[in-house]
Amino acid sequence: MNEEKGNKTVIRRKYRIRLACTSFVLVAAIMGTAMMLTEHSSGKEVTAGTTVSSSAADNSSQTEKKQSVTTADSSTPPQQTAQGTQLSAKAAAKSEETPAKPQIEVKDGVTYVGGILIANKTYALPAGYEPGLSQDAQNAFNKMQQAAAAEGISLWICSGYRSYSYQQQLYDNYVAQDGKAEADRYSARPGHSEHQTGLAIDVNDAGSSFDNTPEAAWLAAHCADYGFIVRYKPGKESSTGYMAESWHIRYLGDAELCRKIDASGLSLEEYLGITSVYSD
Ligand code: DAL
Ligand code: ZN
Repeated sequence: MNEEKGNKTVIRRKYRIRLACTSFVLVAAIMGTAMMLTEHSSGKEVTAGTTVSSSAADNSSQTEKKQSVTTADSSTPPQQTAQGTQLSAKAAAKSEETPAKPQIEVKDGVTYVGGILIANKTYALPAGYEPGLSQDAQNAFNKMQQAAAAEGISLWICSGYRSYSYQQQLYDNYVAQDGKAEADRYSARPGHSEHQTGLAIDVNDAGSSFDNTPEAAWLAAHCADYGFIVRYKPGKESSTGYMAESWHIRYLGDAELCRKIDASGLSLEEYLGITSVYSD
């Protein structure tokens, strides 16, 4: 019996030891699992953080876009939007390259943004504004035409200055043909056409048949050197208000500025931080 008791005691001890070991293993397993879960969940946080951070970046860029529109008319260059420390430093570096906030001035009913005459869907010209084609623009075009000719490229003026009343006729015809909504995508309402400024020129063929021609490629590559920009580029309808027009160039006069705008990939509206939207 004693031996049996003794055996039972030994068995109980062994059982306790096994139980203790099992408990230890179980506790260790639970702790291990808990740690893994913590790591996993912290991994999720990192992932979530990344997502938040990238979505914050997305939001920033949306904010930036919004600000470029919102601040548009107060003309804050989009590059000045802060986007976190690292990006702020980049933005600060960029802002050094960016011109100061352009001032909007209205003289005799004509709007100038940073000294640049603007006619678009937001900013109209008086009906009586009749400057004719700018002599400076004509001279610059002539020089460009000669340079192009020397390279076997033939450029000519298809449409230059257009009066308020002529634009009215054109626009009314397009509305009759395609309806107002569609016409508004490619033809300016009277008072809103750059052609009325005397600073815009349609080159060769005012239509999509000019796209992808050697002349269009030459114009896009060289017009900045003569003080022009291709005004309505592809993918910019939301800022310019118009479908792409590879043939429509706008004289700004300052070749360096034109090269800068061209290199920026921004439309003139985006560059100046202004809108082009009809009020009605
Ligand atoms: N086609 C341009 C937008 C104009 O009518 O002035
Ligand atoms: Zn045009």
